[in-house]
Amino acid sequence: MKDIVRQKIGINVDVMDLLNEQIAKEAHSSSVYLAMASWCDHNGLMYSAEFLYKQAAEEREHMLKIFKFINDNGGTAYSPEINNITHEYNSLQDIFETALDQEIEVTKSIHKIVTRCRKVQDYGSENFLQWFITEQMEEENKFRRILEMFDLMGTDGIALKLIDERIKNE
Ligand SMILES: [Fe+2]
Ligand SMILES: [Fe+2]
Repeated sequence: MKDIVRQKIGINVDVMDLLNEQIAKEAHSSSVYLAMASWCDHNGLMYSAEFLYKQAAEEREHMLKIFKFINDNGGTAYSPEINNITHEYNSLQDIFETALDQEIEVTKSIHKIVTRCRKVQDYGSENFLQWFITEQMEEENKFRRILEMFDLMGTDGIALKLIDERIKNE
């Protein structure tokens, strides 16, 4: 890397590339949650729909947080293209299982960037990512709690209505 580039960017360029990939992942998550919200809306699961709309908004905030971090530190954040969004789900349980899998993947991705930060001694970016580590733990726990309800209560019509109502409090 040329010194002139190093003078302009406060974060490591390889880390910046990974952060740009993370922007795309957060944006993708946001769109997935939106598709899930739509499915719930159409299936009369109003509280779950509301919960998932909120999740979609949160993922967009995560995306913007990284976006601004890159630009604030002299890098270039890229507005992501989003594709591969499915609107086909088998059930509410399927939605929350898919959501947990998605969150686990995001956690792994954040950890991968932190590992890179340490390797290249980009402690500023590592410090920035600490918030995301905590956030991911909370997110995963939230979805695990919801999935436990299906184990406890089942998936028939009445159980589904009860679970939907409880999701209101998540
Ligand atoms: Fe996120
Ligand atoms: Fe998330």
